[in-house]
Amino acid sequence: MKTTLITGISGFLGGHLATIAKDQFRVAGLFHTYTAEIPGVRTFYSSLKDFTVLQKNLDEIQADVIIHNAAMANPDTCEANPAEAEKINVGSSEFLAKWCETNDRRMVFISTDMVFDGTKGNYREKDEVNPLSIYAKTKAKAEIDILTHCRNSLICRIALMYGKGVFDRLYGSEWLERELIKRKNNVISDPVVLFHDQFRSMISVSKAAEAVTEAAGRDIRGILHIAGSERVSRFDFGRKLCAVLKIPETFIVSAKYDDANIRTPRPKDVSLNITKARSLLTTQFQNIETGLREIYP
Ligand SMILES: NC(=O)c1ccc[n+]([C@@H]2O[C@H](COP(=O)([O-])OP(=O)(O)OC[C@H]3O[C@@H](n4cnc5c(N)ncnc54)[C@H](OP(=O)(O)O)[C@@H]3O)[C@@H](O)[C@H]2O)c1
Repeated sequence: MKTTLITGISGFLGGHLATIAKDQFRVAGLFHTYTAEIPGVRTFYSSLKDFTVLQKNLDEIQADVIIHNAAMANPDTCEANPAEAEKINVGSSEFLAKWCETNDRRMVFISTDMVFDGTKGNYREKDEVNPLSIYAKTKAKAEIDILTHCRNSLICRIALMYGKGVFDRLYGSEWLERELIKRKNNVISDPVVLFHDQFRSMISVSKAAEAVTEAAGRDIRGILHIAGSERVSRFDFGRKLCAVLKIPETFIVSAKYDDANIRTPRPKDVSLNITKARSLLTTQFQNIETGLREIYP
């Protein structure tokens, strides 16, 4: 059995990656501020800014495949701390890519749909990137660095994810569910504002982890889009989430992105075309309703 090292095992996607990858790999995982423990997974403290610690992790784990998932993943935090975002998201990626190339190992990088500017939608792997935010710029730069430095590498561009994290902590990606439940419990009365003109091919976090794990174990190189099977606006996703949570739709309200005063630029339509993933993977990509029903049966 091959060994995989997953960075950011304590995060929203990382916890699912570790859980699912256990069936296919011996798994080691790195956490930073949150001490993550998953039965059957060796976990280690690390810092993406400290290459001495990272090197020690690499020497000890000797992974065949690195899934580089850890990142400064909040676009607003990246926008406010561009130098830090560059160091964490780009610097660590280049370091790991060079280690993989030197040691003849495989590297899988978790990137984002936000590398596109959102003017077109239905993006394929060969479409040109044009990142709008600092977060997206660091991801686009890391993609190039990895493809340049590591021959056996795969960039998985993931769409916006929904679902539940595996650890008992506050995940940014669970914000909408949290906000809806606050309204249901009468903690807040104002409805949640969701854009009707911002589109994503949202995917459940467990399905994204399944697809990445399958791709990591196969000889697939280059770029691969991983997303749900339908394009949906943020508002329509909210309606579907209200339905499964049995929460009245009056708790959400639709708004126009252009009318909102948003500091960190976010692309309008970064829906992803998953024809390539469908042709290469056996993972069955779902629509939102199927994905939500699995999470909230
Ligand atoms: N969430 C989405 O919808 C989405 C969509 C597309 C792509 N992505 C990408 O998917 C990946 C995972 O995202 P996520 O939502 O799961 O993020 P997350 O929940 O914020 O998790 C981020 C992970 O990175 C680790 N990390 C952050 N800074 C670090 C540092 N300086 N040194 C070492 N580790 C550090 C965190 O460790 P601690 O928590 O232990 O500090 C955590 O394990 C990211 O690469 C993100 O860009 C996410």
